[in-house]
Amino acid sequence: MDFGAQLRSAIKAGRKRRAAWVRLLDTTRLFRTGEGRARLCTRLVHRQRVHQTAPDTWEERYPELFDRAAQLMPNARRILSFGCSTGEELISLRRRFGAAEIIGAEINSRSRRVAVRRLASDLQASVVKPTAVSGEFDVIFALAVLQRGPHWVDEAGVDDLSAHYPFAKFDQMVRELVGHLRAGGLLCTMHTHYLVEQSSAAPQLESLSDSPPMCGPFFGPDNRRLATQSAPSIYRKR
Ligand SMILES: C[S@@+](CC[C@H](N)C(=O)[O-])C[C@H]1O[C@@H](n2cnc3c(N)ncnc32)[C@H](O)[C@@H]1O
Repeated sequence: MDFGAQLRSAIKAGRKRRAAWVRLLDTTRLFRTGEGRARLCTRLVHRQRVHQTAPDTWEERYPELFDRAAQLMPNARRILSFGCSTGEELISLRRRFGAAEIIGAEINSRSRRVAVRRLASDLQASVVKPTAVSGEFDVIFALAVLQRGPHWVDEAGVDDLSAHYPFAKFDQMVRELVGHLRAGGLLCTMHTHYLVEQSSAAPQLESLSDSPPMCGPFFGPDNRRLATQSAPSIYRKR
């Protein structure tokens, strides 16, 4: 094995063990780009509130989910995209919800600025800090946000998420989001570490079994890995 391959495999093994030197290396890498620095800054400043810190997103990322939500709620008037990153999700939603007021909430100030620029010509769309979200919504999307470092969780075969992203953090956020849904409104989720139906907001929700499936791994309220591999992605508030 050449030196490069040896180094890559040492890094992979170190990442699995969460070795301090690999964490330092990963943090140093983030310093090299504006996006990485913004991510680090978000982690530091919003330590308590931030969920997934990676800003990865693209247009039409979940077409089946967007289409199903639009079929279920064609006349939605107010939509929240929680964790909208740089705004591509809002553009995908605008294609399906032509007349709705669409609000993107984003905690990372750099991503928020990019999203504001991207949506500048859409007078019915806005991008705000999560603390500025107010009122009730017909549909809330929380996509690839209620999680933390899923690739690492997979690669390292993590069995207990308590130290990394505890159930309580997920649970509190789901409750907050459900609090912003009107009765009959839809909560759409994708890529979550935990199951919405195991959250304390579950009694207020009914899962739509014909919604596009969301894939695991999933963890339980005790933060331990579950055998469940699939869950509905859309929930209706009773
Ligand atoms: C992986 S991106 C997902 C973007 C988009 N929803 C998608 O699925 O393509 C996750 C985003 O959630 C944001 N985020 C994390 N915690 C947040 C919070 N408490 N409030 C608002 N945004 C948050 C991150 O800054 C990041 O931009």
